[in-house]
Amino acid sequence: MTLDMFEQDGVNVGQSELYGQDVHLLRGFALPYIDDIIMALTLQIKPQSPLRYMTTPGGYSMSVAMTNCGQRGWLTSRSGYCYAVLDPLTQKHWPDMPAIFMTLAQAAAYRTGFDDFIPDSCLINEYQAGSKMSLHQDKDEADLSAPIVSVSLGISATFLLGGLVREEKAVRIALHHGDVMVWGRADRLRFHGILPLKSALHSVTKDCRINLTFRKAL
Ligand code: SIN
Ligand code: FE2
Repeated sequence: MTLDMFEQDGVNVGQSELYGQDVHLLRGFALPYIDDIIMALTLQIKPQSPLRYMTTPGGYSMSVAMTNCGQRGWLTSRSGYCYAVLDPLTQKHWPDMPAIFMTLAQAAAYRTGFDDFIPDSCLINEYQAGSKMSLHQDKDEADLSAPIVSVSLGISATFLLGGLVREEKAVRIALHHGDVMVWGRADRLRFHGILPLKSALHSVTKDCRINLTFRKAL
């Protein structure tokens, strides 16, 4: 396999884009943190709380594999969505949030005008070719004044940024390796999702895309 079969390492790095009033896209912001993130995922988080396919309240299996780290973990099951202290798979606490995760999330929030973001939860989403995330709002959190910080690793994906109501037409935004999106305030409850991932290879994540979503759940 030759190197040019792999996707490139970040696009428009250093650029920042604004959508609406408070949706910020920091191109390549996570690139300096990548090696440490991958190491923590591989050595600490995934061995302790493995990726799994959760079930939606409607009874369907998610196409995205998920796990969590931090004080709380986001779960979906037949009984609905919740933030849980324990991983139901292991009956133990979720893995600690690595210091480098916290540093990255806080730096991105600070850069976009959210000075005191202290996430207590990080959802880890792994997309394979064909995996998708339907349009939804992040609204299971108690304190909606805290932003969402979302980090993209590996294969590029198309992010759908909708409005505050489901019917509003979504804008398509290409997300590449190392991109960080931060949204909050007036835009905190915007609908969003990910189109089915195209089959590709990335030098860091191979055949998948990884997304880290940092939130203040409590
Ligand atoms: C999510 O909204 O839960 C995930 C978004 C993404 O994968 O970029
Ligand atoms: Fe979300």
